[in-house]
Amino acid sequence: MVKILAIESSCDDTSAGVIEGRRVLSNVTANQLVHELYGGVVPELASRAHEKNIVPVVDRALAEAGCSVADIGAVAFTRGPGLMGSLHVGVSFAKGLALARQIPLVDVNHLEAHVSAHFIDDEQQRRPQFPFLCLLVSGGNSQIIKVEAEDKMSVIGQTIDDAAGEAFDKCAKVLGLPYPGGPWVDRLAKEGNPQAFKFARPDVGGYDYSFSGLKTSFLYLIRDSLGPEPDFIERRKADLCASLQSAVVDVLLRKLERAANDLGIRHIGIAGGVSANSGLRNGLEKLGQRRGWEVYIPRFCYTTDNAAMVGIAGAIKLERGLTTTQHAAPVARVG
Ligand code: KG4
Repeated sequence: MVKILAIESSCDDTSAGVIEGRRVLSNVTANQLVHELYGGVVPELASRAHEKNIVPVVDRALAEAGCSVADIGAVAFTRGPGLMGSLHVGVSFAKGLALARQIPLVDVNHLEAHVSAHFIDDEQQRRPQFPFLCLLVSGGNSQIIKVEAEDKMSVIGQTIDDAAGEAFDKCAKVLGLPYPGGPWVDRLAKEGNPQAFKFARPDVGGYDYSFSGLKTSFLYLIRDSLGPEPDFIERRKADLCASLQSAVVDVLLRKLERAANDLGIRHIGIAGGVSANSGLRNGLEKLGQRRGWEVYIPRFCYTTDNAAMVGIAGAIKLERGLTTTQHAAPVARVG
């Protein structure tokens, strides 16, 4: 079986892995901490960090998989969507390696890769039955994807403005929490009252999402409360986090439930960094029990940006002969 070296560099994580069939032999990720200083990802710094990280990360991925570059039969890489400068580093590296080794090159859509995390053969996770709906929630995307086969998926709903992770991160920034704020909101929410504040829960119709109104209502509440109560944020931080999380989760699950009902699908998966959110996991579990859904959540290391999922998506394409050429260029936006 072909060993595939996979490269992911679409945002601020440099990741490389080796996969064989649907099994992950290694999955090594270098997170970029430099962005914490700025409260968000700085694209130029991200590409520079990718340049620094990519060779050591690939070396470690090969070592952990117990193989050398001579054992690699194909290279899969994230072509987009993502940050242009970041993508360039992974794309160039993958093309260079494929050219030097004269091995096939497979380009992968980052969002399809997130869904493909569900196809990883790992005893700690279950493979969803087709068709299933995948709620993909990350820092850059919020989508509902209908998955009919490993190579047949279509986006049936998506955010028209901010992503769910972005809403968490931007609101967290208003509270003075470090970047990325999502995990901090999650942690603090556990000590707060989710009903303390009522934030907007916009519904733009169909299966699409919108988070900008929710974010604005959060911002306005803080602005209006800080005048009379300068210590408002400090005093009510946990309640603010719990109420914010409850609003984001409500919005996400409402559309998912609508889509599942309309399409008569009862197998539901989640993917992307926000799938780590405990409010979302609990909410999905409860809704699933009520609705009789089978819920599938990949291991956390496969839900955030990682090369293993890119390798699986690459293997699926390679098996169908869908390779690319040295002309492949990164694409910041897809579709
Ligand atoms: O998929 P991912 O690792 O990559 C990007 O999209 O770049 O997702 C990162 C996002 C961030 O917005 C982060 O705040 C959010 O996932 N996130 C969370 C949690 N863990 C990560 N959001 C809410 N609760 C969490 N526990």
